[in-house]
Amino acid sequence: MKEKINEILQEVESFATDSLDKLEEYRIGYLSKKGKIPALFGDFKNVVPEDRKEMGQLLNELKNKAQSKLNLLKDEITTKKETSVDDDIDLTRPVEFRDVGTRHPLSIVRRQILDIFDRIGYTVAEGPEIENDWHNFSALNFPEEHPARDMQDTFFVSDDKTPSAEKIALRTHTSSVQARVMENNKPPIRVVAPGRVFRNEAISARAHCIFHQVEGLYIDHNVSFADLKQTLYYFAREFFGEDTKVRFRPSYFPFTEPSAEMDISCKICGGKGCKICKYSGWVEILGCGMVDPNVLESNNIDSKEYTGFAFGMGIERITMLKYQINDLRLFFENDIRFLKQFEGAF
Ligand code: PHE
Repeated sequence: MKEKINEILQEVESFATDSLDKLEEYRIGYLSKKGKIPALFGDFKNVVPEDRKEMGQLLNELKNKAQSKLNLLKDEITTKKETSVDDDIDLTRPVEFRDVGTRHPLSIVRRQILDIFDRIGYTVAEGPEIENDWHNFSALNFPEEHPARDMQDTFFVSDDKTPSAEKIALRTHTSSVQARVMENNKPPIRVVAPGRVFRNEAISARAHCIFHQVEGLYIDHNVSFADLKQTLYYFAREFFGEDTKVRFRPSYFPFTEPSAEMDISCKICGGKGCKICKYSGWVEILGCGMVDPNVLESNNIDSKEYTGFAFGMGIERITMLKYQINDLRLFFENDIRFLKQFEGAF
């Protein structure tokens, strides 16, 4: 009996594994009801009485050792499993890209427009969206109570009783930034002013009460209409492509004289005529003109010494032409299916 106990004790002591399956085999082999150790307990009844005390002790020691070995190995194997993840890192595995969203098409196009003007020395200017009457109208040669103010349906912040000159409104165009730049800077002035504008218009596929413009202003000695045309021709070719043609049609704005609207040859049909250009081959993209001397004088710039030109374009309109988008409302709905199409564009 003693020999048997020692033999099994050695087996138990030398046993080692890092597999849970092997450990289970060990448990069944030594400790389960049919295992070797309970079998020895079964043989205990045959031990002669004088040896029983010693054998009983040895047997219990064996059982305890076998059980603590089982517990120890079990602990070791399971903790190793939990912490061994680090060893399995595969450094060659491709990165998983996070879904971080996309740039809005209006932001993409605004950046492209500003970038084109940046290359010819224009800096960016900004002004407030809530504006007073002076900067939005009076400084731009809109006389008080003049019907030209009705060209742009205005959202007023102040009530009807407020005298015209003190009225506060949401700016109807980025031309208000022109007035602010002239008031704070001496010529030469060369700025582009991007921003959001507001007009009290019913929302449809072609009009919205909120939209975006980029304004341009250039004032220096001897600035001529030829400079205006060349600058805008350069812009049109850079933005829409080398083969783009432009044409200027006479127009009216209170703050420019002479004034014009610029069309580009239709990018969709190549000038042959289609639905987008209403079969004319041309689409309008901006308003422009020579800064009216009254505007220069209102802003303390000597109109005998300086001349300048200004232009203003709608970012939505240009984006619609560039990406062939036919409904203005899409820009404001934030439908992921629409926005996702601009993934990767900068
Ligand atoms: N502010 C004009 C508009 O919103 C555009 C414009 C800007 C025209 C500058 C001429 C010069 O329609």
